[in-house]
This record gives sequence, C-alpha cells and structure tokens, in this order.
Amino acid sequence: MHSEPYLLDPSADGVHVLWHTGAHATGAVLIGGRRVEATSSALVTLHDDQDVRTTVHRHWALVTGLGAAARTPYRVVSDLAGGDRVESATYSLAPAVPPGRPARLLLSSDHQMWRMTPANIEKVAETVGVELDGVLFAGDMVGVPDRAADWFDPPRGFFASLTGRADTEIAGRRYRGAPLLQHTPLFPAIGNHEVMGRRARHRTLQARFDDPAPDAWDTATYEALFPVPRGPDGPRWWSRTVGDVFVVALFVTRAWRDAVATYAEPPDRAGDPMGGQFRYARVDAGSPQYGWLAGELASPAARAARYRVVLFHHASHGLGAHCVPAYTDPVPDGAGGYAYPIADDVVLRDLAPLFAAAGVDLVVNGHSHLWNRFRDPAGVNWLETSNVGNSYGAFPDRGDPGGLAAVMPTVAPLAGPDGAPLPYVADNDVTVFSVLDSGAGVVRSYRFDTRHPDGPVVLFDELPLERNGPFLTLSAWERAVPNAELPLLE
Ligand SMILES: [Fe+2]
Repeated sequence: MHSEPYLLDPSADGVHVLWHTGAHATGAVLIGGRRVEATSSALVTLHDDQDVRTTVHRHWALVTGLGAAARTPYRVVSDLAGGDRVESATYSLAPAVPPGRPARLLLSSDHQMWRMTPANIEKVAETVGVELDGVLFAGDMVGVPDRAADWFDPPRGFFASLTGRADTEIAGRRYRGAPLLQHTPLFPAIGNHEVMGRRARHRTLQARFDDPAPDAWDTATYEALFPVPRGPDGPRWWSRTVGDVFVVALFVTRAWRDAVATYAEPPDRAGDPMGGQFRYARVDAGSPQYGWLAGELASPAARAARYRVVLFHHASHGLGAHCVPAYTDPVPDGAGGYAYPIADDVVLRDLAPLFAAAGVDLVVNGHSHLWNRFRDPAGVNWLETSNVGNSYGAFPDRGDPGGLAAVMPTVAPLAGPDGAPLPYVADNDVTVFSVLDSGAGVVRSYRFDTRHPDGPVVLFDELPLERNGPFLTLSAWERAVPNAELPLLE
C-alpha cells in the first residue's frame, strides 16, 4: 500500500505534506530542485479487515521557504525497505493565502465510504477545480477510525475519494473522486466516527468503536493522521486564518447511542454509568475549550478577518435525524434511560450567544447527512452540507429543535412530491457540496443527481455572508457571555 500525498496546515511560507506506505520506507518531498526529508513513523492503531493489527508508515514533511510564491510543483518519493522506490505524480502546493486576501474553501463532511462520495468529489473538481485554499471538513470521515481500509481502500476510503483513487459505479458511471488533497490543504474537525471506544473489552474493531465510555475513548488514529493544525489540546481544536477568513474548529460531538429513548447502561458499568449519549469534550461555558474559543473569537486575527467561520460536527440547528436529543448532559430518568433537556443544549445555550457577540458569520456542522441552513436573529448563518454520500432524511414536521425556520434555497430548491419547494436536500440519489467564496462573499451550494450521470451540476443556493454589523461593545459582550475570560480589546 502507498497513499497519495495530502496537505495540512499551510503557513505564511510553508505547508505540511503527509503520505503513507504499507512497508517501512524513508520519504522525501521533491520540490523546486530541493529534497525535503520526511520524518517517518509507524502508526500503531490501525487494523486490517480481519481486525488484525496492521502497520502503516506515516511520512511527514514540512516544506518551508515558499515565501509568497504562487503554486509550486512537487512530488513525493518513498524508498521502501526492500529497495523499491515509489514516486508520486506531480502536484502543486502553496503557502497559506495571505491575511486579507480572498479564499475559496470547500465545505464537506460525513463521507464515511457512502455510495455517492466519490461522485461528489468528482463533481467538486469539475465545478471549482482541485486547487482550492482549503477543505473545511465537519467530521465523520470514516466508519471506524482504526480500520485501515476505511481510510485507504479504493472503493470509497476517505483518502481514496479525496485523492482520486476511489472506484465506485453508479448508474453505469465509474467515479474515482478527484486529486483534491494533493493540491488543497485539509482543515478537519472531529466527528463521532473519529473516536474509538473501549479497546480492551472487545475483539472486533466495530465492537470497540460501538462501546465508548466517559473514561475510555480516544482519538489516537485521527491525531496521527491529522497532527496539524494544533491548538492548546493538540489537533482536537484549533484556529487558523485562511486569507480573509478566520476559522475555528471545535471538538463538539458525543457518543452515539442507537436507542436514545430506551438506552440502558450495560451490566458491567453498574454504579459507574456510561451516561447515555455522553459528550466527549466539554464546550459549555466555563470549560477549557469554551474559554479558549472565547479568547480566539476576541483575538485581533478574528476581529481583523472579513469573515469568521466556526466548524464542528454536532448540529443543534437542523431538520436532520441527529439534531436530537439535545446536546447536553444526560439526566437519568430513573428507569435506566436518560432525558436530554433542550433548555440545556450547550450549543444553543452557551455557544450561540458567543457567536452572536463575536460576529461569527457562518457555523458549519455535519452529522445528519442532509443539506439545510438557518439564520439566527443575530445574523449568524448555520449550515449543514453533509448530504455527500447518503442521507438520513429530513424531519420538517418536527422542525429545528433550536426553533428557527429553515431558509429556502435561493436559486433552485428541489421540489417535494406535491411540487412545493423544499428547504432542504435529504436524498440518496442527489449529492450536495458547498463552496465558500470569500471574494464574492457567498457560500454556493450545488447538487448533482447521480441517476443521470450526464446531467448538470446545479447551483441551488447562494448564502450571502454579509457582515453582521459592528461588533458588540466589550460590556455588551460581557453581558452576553458572563463567564468568558476575554483579553482586553481596544
Ligand atoms: Fe456523526
């Protein structure tokens, strides 16, 4: 096995290049007559399809000295222990878009080897090319993070689709994805499918994934594959400025439990509950992640940027299946199950006022595998654009648990069976992607019907990212966010 290279965390004059080989190897990036040596290490958490540990070697090089150069051609070379050499094709890399300059960012999530994902990425490339300024990924890359095939194997592995090595047929058309990550850096956030559960308890990967406990879960594979960007807690949450866009990624996801209403603790946790759909990392007011977020949103970089974007997996605004129950501590109901009071939804109660006060322009979520968007009274846009590989449906009769009305697509909404326009896309034949174009000040969303392989990619929504008006004064912020520790601002 050898993977294509992918780019992470561009800086003012550099970018990280990573790739993987099945065999031990030394690696290097060849660029502009230079050879930049990679640091090679064995990843110890990956397993094969028989749940047997398999070693994958990661090669990681930091290419610097790019200055303000435009794109530079590069390729990677791996010298395998047996003497063979594997050389990639030639791609291009670039430093980060300088502050203040416009950026184009693909918004995506929830690929998870679903059927339409390779077609989706191919249509991204046909529509906007593969040389973007970033892919903002709102979590759920794979099914089981410790299964190597989920990342690398051709049918629909995460890297396979995003590097043009997928191989999936729909309606007589063969889709390969596109070489996106070789040219465009990935900016990821963690979804529940990037978290492993109790390793020691179970023989199969699936069982380990399905059985996290508050004191037994980890993101080791994710952190090894995406070691940068980093924040104060490593790669789990971070902030970066990409041109005129300030981006914050949060770790906002929780243990998935199928039977939320009737969930009962397993006997081996008696007296030591797993807590139903418990949250992995706290983000409620007063938590370290929240305090860091408040400081980031008040930072000079955030305030100077034309747009502020927050990226995290769980959607508290949405018509989708996984917006419920509320994102909060489970309350034991006395019958072995739990309740989740909506008044205590941490995203709605603690994060939304902070976003409003900080002039956040866009919140990007995933998790329910549909497209829908909302605009709250403060002018913050909430977008889920995760109907990439499949959908878990929309529930318009239930509505948004956060109480907002879904915004109707501005250009070409799909129609329901009665011919009325739909304020969402939740479809297992139609795949959706969105591109933030900060120069134009819009997020454009596109759809493609995989039943008609020669059919068009349809622009169906343009979300205007106009400024929310002046920032609140510091005293107004302090009233809105009483617990935030803010740096002094002028
Ligand atoms: Fe998810």
